[in-house]
Amino acid sequence: MLEDVIQSSEWLKARINSHPSIAIILGSGLGSLAKEIEVKVQFDYWDIPHFPISTVEGHAGRLLVGTLGGKDIIAMQGRFHYYEGYSMQQVTYPIRVFRELGIKTLFVSNAAGGTNPDFHIGDIMMITDHINMLPENPLRGKNVDYGPRFLDMSHAYSPALMAKARQIAHDEGIALREGVYLATQGPTYETPAEYHMFRLLGADAVGMSTVPEIIVARHCGIECFGISVITNVVQQSAQVSHQKVEAAAQAAQTRLTQLFKQLIQHL
Ligand code: HPA
Repeated sequence: MLEDVIQSSEWLKARINSHPSIAIILGSGLGSLAKEIEVKVQFDYWDIPHFPISTVEGHAGRLLVGTLGGKDIIAMQGRFHYYEGYSMQQVTYPIRVFRELGIKTLFVSNAAGGTNPDFHIGDIMMITDHINMLPENPLRGKNVDYGPRFLDMSHAYSPALMAKARQIAHDEGIALREGVYLATQGPTYETPAEYHMFRLLGADAVGMSTVPEIIVARHCGIECFGISVITNVVQQSAQVSHQKVEAAAQAAQTRLTQLFKQLIQHL
């Protein structure tokens, strides 16, 4: 696997003439952030040696290299989900390639269901911590000596980046929720009983991604920052139309883009 990672990164290095230290994973429905990137070069996943290929509709499956907020960045448009049938090694493969490319900070976004009764559709939530309810940990198996066998997860999400995000949100008047993201394997959404259980377990939002990438990024010594866009809220789901959800997601994108861009500017 590590040989493959090195081949992928060497292939990319030969085609990129910048040295990005920031990577972004764009979650479902978060396309407008990509529009803000000044793309210098882009790669379809299937062109990159050994890279897994995205299967979900609405996920482009492209690696964008360019600038955002005046910084060199690399962005994944489309990620790999465990529910698609990928192994955990495949789900987290790009993160190890990022490490080889010299990435030091990872920004992730995702769509999630709100289990916190105070949340509303279209809210953006800074992920302060997570609960891994996926059936497998991506570090299972022989330890890759990128990091320790038993990884400390007490600061999975960078306290410094969270503090900066709070300040930016305050200064810009962006309503920023905070909470715990719980990852389930999906692909089914939760039954009302399951949402209730996850709330009791301490989750504010539930989704089907992000946690494996964060675990591997931390193992690689990469600082992490994550935002969930709340696309549905358990208690309010009965009264909400698809159009309202779409409109809320659209409105959320602008705030998310602004926050990411400013955070990156301040790095
Ligand atoms: N559950 C799991 N994943 C999700 C949800 C949800 O309610 N909404 C968006 N992604």
